[in-house]
Amino acid sequence: MKYRFSRLCGVLYLMAFVHMTTSQISPIVVSTAMGDIMGERTPFAYQDQVVSVDTTVDIFRGIPYAKPPVGDLRFAKPQPMEPWLETYDATFFRPICWQIVENNITEEQSEDCLHLNVFSPDVQGSGYPVVVHIHGGGFIQGTGNSAYHDGRPMVSLGDVVYVTMNYRLNAFGFLSTGDPEMIGNYGLWDQSLSLKWIKENIEPFGGDPNNITIIGQSAGGASVGFHLIAEQSWNYFHRGILMSGNMMAPWGLETDSEKARSDAFLVGRLAGCEDATNSQELRDCLRQVEEERLIIAANAALATTTNVIPLVPTIDGEFITDDPRHLLEQEKFKMCDVMLGNTKDDGSLVAMRAYIELIPSPDPYSDYETFLDRVARFTYTYTNDVIVNSIAQQYLDWEDFDDPDTNYFYKYIELITDEAFHCTSEHTARAYAMSGNSVYRYYYTYRRPLSVSIPRWYGVGHGYDMPYVFGHFMNPRMNSTVPYSREEKQFSLQMMSYYTNFAKTGNPNVGNEVTFPWDRFTVPGLNILEEKPDFEAIPGARAEFNAFWNYYVLRLVTYSADLSEAEHQWREEFNRWKNDDLPAWRVDFQDYQDSDQCSP
Ligand SMILES: *[C@@H]1O[C@H](CO)[C@@H](O)[C@H](O)[C@H]1NC(C)=O
Ligand SMILES: *[C@@H]1O[C@H](CO)[C@@H](O)[C@H](O)[C@H]1NC(C)=O
Ligand SMILES: *[C@@H]1O[C@H](CO)[C@@H](O)[C@H](O)[C@H]1NC(C)=O
Repeated sequence: MKYRFSRLCGVLYLMAFVHMTTSQISPIVVSTAMGDIMGERTPFAYQDQVVSVDTTVDIFRGIPYAKPPVGDLRFAKPQPMEPWLETYDATFFRPICWQIVENNITEEQSEDCLHLNVFSPDVQGSGYPVVVHIHGGGFIQGTGNSAYHDGRPMVSLGDVVYVTMNYRLNAFGFLSTGDPEMIGNYGLWDQSLSLKWIKENIEPFGGDPNNITIIGQSAGGASVGFHLIAEQSWNYFHRGILMSGNMMAPWGLETDSEKARSDAFLVGRLAGCEDATNSQELRDCLRQVEEERLIIAANAALATTTNVIPLVPTIDGEFITDDPRHLLEQEKFKMCDVMLGNTKDDGSLVAMRAYIELIPSPDPYSDYETFLDRVARFTYTYTNDVIVNSIAQQYLDWEDFDDPDTNYFYKYIELITDEAFHCTSEHTARAYAMSGNSVYRYYYTYRRPLSVSIPRWYGVGHGYDMPYVFGHFMNPRMNSTVPYSREEKQFSLQMMSYYTNFAKTGNPNVGNEVTFPWDRFTVPGLNILEEKPDFEAIPGARAEFNAFWNYYVLRLVTYSADLSEAEHQWREEFNRWKNDDLPAWRVDFQDYQDSDQCSP
């Protein structure tokens, strides 16, 4: 299996390098404060009508930035790596962090996974701005090693040093009992330590330690958001790009520490630590559990969840000191330039969970009752039916309401995209803009004419912007089934220019040429760039829905808090009536009817 994979890659490699004129891969060594590191100077060429590149990229894979987080370091903050004497071989990727096993991952997984990868235009150069990419995957999966995150296109076109890292995921990264025994957020501490490592060691790779931008998508975007509100990380970077995720994302943070704690004990029970009666016993027992067994237990626990993903960051009082909403309100965040936004249908990912039975359908249909049920169960801010009713009021087309065939499925995607992605991004953008920072906001709406298995209802899905921002069309490790058109390649070049320009200067318009000016997001003004091949300015897009989620619903949650309790009691009574009293009544009624019939 593995052999076939690498052979195919080899073929593609050759195909992509037909125009290659320069040398072979050659070893290259840099001297850092940690010790010498050997990587590879790798030829990189790509040529067609749209772009021509013929250069080399210096690639270093699998550099350890922390001590292996094993033994007593499991469920603990990462410890800095000790300097080494021998030249470290950074010519191959090290294992990825433990994640989903049943997904047939072919890469080796290990608890010893705290490594980073560096792509440099030229380690003999200097002063290159640095882009650090924090991968996504819901804090339960993903890796900076993947083909998806290959830095060659961005490095060669953007003239930046590009770094990816692996950080602890899933139970290893985020199990939390809510007390000091197992406080959680180990994966965020990993990221932060890697940023420190980059700040202190990137110069020998040609990078400018005073010009570092962190970028991430999905859980990576949420992570960027957490570093913006975590003073711990402030010294290690200068700007942030938050794609389809930010510190306000309701799926990215477990604000209920009791829930996190019960999840931790659930994982414990499934991993053979059912005797643990307190946090310390649980931790001591879980530290003994074999790696694979622990990840299987964690994934079994994940499978029992519906709404918020467990095993994500928590408010630990140290890394994340408070609810991000309060920190934004109090301007307790790193003052810096940010770029942020989301895709038009980011929420179709959530719809896949909410309407799991409809995934195979080419055009899913949801009636009104099912819609209300899914809104109640899969809306993050749901507390009571008043919230559901207000959501319905805001989103429904009332002129179609009386038509029994009206399809509510796409309404669900729209509202969950707003709640979980669009409006949180707006919330963050406002906080940043109103405290005087330079903010660039986007709304990504382009969908590839994909012929592959992804159904059309998925829309402009979560992550659809990634191939353009990271230049997948010229990434030798990506294997697109549908060739990129000339227009799409030009679109990608523009996107790469915006993103790397911003990374370097804080302004997406300054640096490599862009054809459409991207205006700053200000309040008022609300400028937004619609990202699609023919870029457009769409100021104030979806302002009404932003106001709905960011002001109205939040107030409603507060005002109806007592109601929730009342409703809860009412529901319990109703259920008792339905489950106990009603059947009893039916029996009585049947008796009555029967007796009636027998009467003369
Ligand atoms: C994993 O691989 C096995 C054997 O090839 C296959 O039967 C199974 O469906 C795969 N599972 C997933 C989740 O892809
Ligand atoms: C590359 O794409 C081809 C065509 O779709 C496919 O058959 C092949 O399995 C892919 N290779 C890899 C390594 O993904
Ligand atoms: C970062 O690098 C870019 C490009 O070299 C340069 O224009 C910019 O002034 C630098 N910014 C800082 C803060 O050094």
